[in-house]
Amino acid sequence: MKDRLEELRTEGLQALEAASSLSSLKASEIQLLGKKGALTTLLKGVGALPPEERPLIGQLANQVKKEFAEKIASVSAALKEAQIAAELDSAGFDSTLPSAPLTLGGAHPVQVITRELEDLFLSMGFRVADGPEVELEANNFDALNIPADHPARESHDTIWVQEASGETPGLCMRTHTSPVQIRTLREAGAPLRVIAPGRVFRQETQDATHDHTFHQMEGLVVDRGVGVPQMLHAMNAMIEGVFGKHLKTRIRPGYFPFVEPGFELDAQCPFCDEGCSVCKGSRWIELIGCGLVHPKVLQESGVDSDIYSGFAFGVGLSRLAMLRYGIRDVRWMLGGSISFLSQFSE
Ligand code: DAH
Repeated sequence: MKDRLEELRTEGLQALEAASSLSSLKASEIQLLGKKGALTTLLKGVGALPPEERPLIGQLANQVKKEFAEKIASVSAALKEAQIAAELDSAGFDSTLPSAPLTLGGAHPVQVITRELEDLFLSMGFRVADGPEVELEANNFDALNIPADHPARESHDTIWVQEASGETPGLCMRTHTSPVQIRTLREAGAPLRVIAPGRVFRQETQDATHDHTFHQMEGLVVDRGVGVPQMLHAMNAMIEGVFGKHLKTRIRPGYFPFVEPGFELDAQCPFCDEGCSVCKGSRWIELIGCGLVHPKVLQESGVDSDIYSGFAFGVGLSRLAMLRYGIRDVRWMLGGSISFLSQFSE
């Protein structure tokens, strides 16, 4: 048996070495190592050997297998290289021909606006903060002065996290970026200036102005003596930063449980003169919610509301992008259409 194995080794290695193409190499491989190959057939006889000889033959057989595999790898690499060299040599390959044009990606419109706003707010002494998209119910609502029985909860069509058992562990997909206010205040305390751009989620029926996933940016300033004038200054800087001085805006009272007083800032609809589907006939589009941070929110986050006050704002980044680029349907934003996206790459 040992002699036959040795013989097979010599013959096999020679046959593999002699292969002149990848297909003849494959054929030799099957002949040697295939299910009905020479080595396999030979090894079927091991059972008939005296037990003390079996380990030695087993070892030798493994050695032969390994040598075959190595030879196959090296011959195959050499053949492939020769094949490429032959292709390059043969007429028809011209390394000076121009290549197919490269298509470059570009930044998404929301990303463009986010970066611009980050630069703008960094220049005003803010830092960029982040929070999780799966958020504690307590941070998304309770700490923002929206307790369980508060009617404002209903206006946020919340996507709740449910365990396989059906239990709800008090987690939801954040419905706004406002919980980052709580996280940063608790972590860093006052004074503080942060913005927090990110994705938010709501259980919405999709239409031209609603999507289940969209982008917002939160802003928060807490310091001594912060009031409405500072807030208006920041809002104007933001609008001017994105649109220049052209966009007409108005500010009116608005209700958000985590600010008092609260405001809504609207921009005049750039799509129409007398009302359209985007502005729902009103000529105005809501852009920003803002206000002075409710003392309860400060206290909830361990900040002394007798010493510190602040303003907060939440702006729809998707909406800013739609207004700036004249995108009439929010569903284009995350639709992934290359023909839509390629309009924005430089
Ligand atoms: N979180 C609010 C929303 O998504 C937006 C908002 C309004 C954020 C007022 C604020 C604010 O920080 O002061 O509807």
